[in-house]
Amino acid sequence: MTCPAWPETLGPVLCIVGARPNFMKMAPVLRAFAAHRPAIPALLVHTGQHYDRDMNDRLFEDLRLPHPDINLEVGSGTHAVQTAEVMKRFEPVVDEHKPSCILVVGDVNSTLACTLVGVKKGIPVAHVEAGLRSFDRGMPEEINRVLTDQVADLLYTTERSALDNLLREGIAPERVAFVGNVMIDSLVANREHARRPAEILDAAGFDGAVAASPAGYTVVTLHRPSNVDQEETLRPLLETLREVSERLPLIIALHPRTRGNIERFGLNDLVAGPRIVLLPPQGYLEMLGLMAGARLVLTDSGGLQEETTALGIPCLTMRENTERPITVEQGTNTMVGRDRRAILAGVSEILAGGGKRGRIPELWDGHAAERIASHLAGWLMDRQAACGGR
Ligand code: UD1
Repeated sequence: MTCPAWPETLGPVLCIVGARPNFMKMAPVLRAFAAHRPAIPALLVHTGQHYDRDMNDRLFEDLRLPHPDINLEVGSGTHAVQTAEVMKRFEPVVDEHKPSCILVVGDVNSTLACTLVGVKKGIPVAHVEAGLRSFDRGMPEEINRVLTDQVADLLYTTERSALDNLLREGIAPERVAFVGNVMIDSLVANREHARRPAEILDAAGFDGAVAASPAGYTVVTLHRPSNVDQEETLRPLLETLREVSERLPLIIALHPRTRGNIERFGLNDLVAGPRIVLLPPQGYLEMLGLMAGARLVLTDSGGLQEETTALGIPCLTMRENTERPITVEQGTNTMVGRDRRAILAGVSEILAGGGKRGRIPELWDGHAAERIASHLAGWLMDRQAACGGR
């Protein structure tokens, strides 16, 4: 049987990634586009927001992401500089490739920047992971989420509460499709390839005793500006983590922002010692293995809240709010903020055999990207038919 071809009059979909949390969301989407019949032509655009080997190349390899077709190489900068630089460099790419659609994921600066360029040029924009809200406008990601959703044409959501948020902001329900969670697609596809914790520690020059500790270990990630950019916030958090380490060894995968601030504020002693393992940012398969083997995860990341829920590992989130409420309502996540007592109480409860068991949320089934491919292809073809083939 011959497969139908993608209409010649419809250009490729420009798929945008910029920073680490985008990569695991985009990998399954690209695979689903290639497997769709007709195959949906796609070009992968990397803005270059993240560029270190640890933050970038290793994840591309682990996730089997193709080499980007276009790299804008924007690098780091203030929010204004980074966002503006992506916009400036992305505009000629849109002019050259005449895409049928721009597909953005998540909530990083690159997400908003490419959305703005696309909508102002009349190119439809599809946003994957739309409608999540922390209701905290102090978070740069919240600004990116609200603005992206206001102007994007298609909003693909991961949990049902996202639709309520969007409706409250005056968004027409026809623009929204509940498809599930592409981040969990990646987890399902890669789970059996996850690296063993003892191997990871051996490779990093540790003796693996932490992974072999009978009580288990805690995985820690910490990088939100609100937690790590001020000494008066970072110091007490690290002191609390040190207390946690006395009960359960810590494996900390350190984001460059946090590493830089620890050095700048002279806090190295707080993260030194036999019960604390400091690792550079980990590859995807390493992180998956570390989380899957952990007794608990302590984090301020968005993605880890979802991944721990999918893995059934208790998660304590060091934030006051979450844009992913389903991980608290149905999953294994508990919000503990930055409060020392709340963090230690959460750890005690888990060590005492408590902690949430959770269940897998609706449509977190490994097939979200296929639903996006099928919906998007239908939408683009209908739109083309309505525009008389233009
Ligand atoms: C970005 C996202 C955040 C996401 C995080 C995951 C925004 C607003 N924030 O935050 O939502 O959770 O990525 O990591 O888009 N740096 C390096 N190497 C790199 C990249 C960054 O050393 O490859 C350092 C630079 O000093 C840079 C700092 O990390 O200034 C912050 O990077 P940036 O991309 O601005 O934001 P993140 O904190 O990584």
